[in-house]
Amino acid sequence: MIENEIVEKINKLKKEKNAVILAHCYQNPEIDLVADYVGDSLGLSKLASKTNADIIVFAGVYFMAETAKILSPEKKVLLPNRKSGCNMADMIDLRMVREFKTKYPNIPLVCYVNSTAEVKAECDVCCTSANAIEVVRSMNVKKVLFAPDCYLGSWVQKNLPNVEVISYPGYCPTHLRISPEDIKQAKEKYPNGVVLVHPECRQEVVELSDFTGSTTQIFDYVKKTNHEMYIICTEKGVVDRLQRDYKDKNFVLINEKIVCHNMKQNTLEDIYNALLNEEFEVNVDEKIRKLALKSINAMISIKSGKQVVTQ
Ligand code: 13P
Ligand code: SF4
Repeated sequence: MIENEIVEKINKLKKEKNAVILAHCYQNPEIDLVADYVGDSLGLSKLASKTNADIIVFAGVYFMAETAKILSPEKKVLLPNRKSGCNMADMIDLRMVREFKTKYPNIPLVCYVNSTAEVKAECDVCCTSANAIEVVRSMNVKKVLFAPDCYLGSWVQKNLPNVEVISYPGYCPTHLRISPEDIKQAKEKYPNGVVLVHPECRQEVVELSDFTGSTTQIFDYVKKTNHEMYIICTEKGVVDRLQRDYKDKNFVLINEKIVCHNMKQNTLEDIYNALLNEEFEVNVDEKIRKLALKSINAMISIKSGKQVVTQ
């Protein structure tokens, strides 16, 4: 099917079935042609909790669709392609998170949303890369456990020196492909360029950045500033969208290997089939869902000024 034709068919099915399509900004850019919302993990989980649709098609990875199901259990949540997993989320399971908690008893656990529902159910509060610092700050504690991303944990530690952050040794293999050497070379090539880094990058890379933030925070930074060149240190989808939205600004992806193959699994065909056949449905065990919901709601409530109360 040609692109226009499939876009039309998806939009028709969306109306008929009262469905909404949520897309992460690491998706293939053509997904935006049918997406109702495009954003980062935090923005999308908030939208998933508010939508009136009967069906949510999550163009992202498995943990994101699972988060949508935790927030909206009465809705049918569909993941267009079964292969959209997340290597970081796969680095910790129920047994591992319990071992981590046993090793450091009586310390609250903060869990990055890039994790399974079972892991979320074991933690006190969730966070995304956009709010990890605020979440930990709001807890008002001296020590926290942080899982699964040790680099996001280091970023929180750097920003909150009065809290001891004990991180689980997980990481994102995509962001780990960015080295300090890449930044030095880019800086030599573009001496007036600004380096924008996602906090999933390793600490030495974060230290060389001009700005560190989640994908949406990187978009906001670009919107509000005017530099000769933006050197982007996160997944390629961000550069594709920046180039499309800011034709008068210049962007370069730090290196061509920064592509998350999990995120790129979903195609327009997959979305069409997902809506047509109502597959692949994501479900979460009710007991786990309720526990995970508490941790996600604890995170969502933070912006409203509430303090997180740990278990
Ligand atoms: P954010 O959407 O929080 O920036 O996350 C990046 C990511 O790795 C999603 O998998
Ligand atoms: Fe997971 Fe990394 Fe891909 Fe994000 S970019 S979905 S953390 S593997």
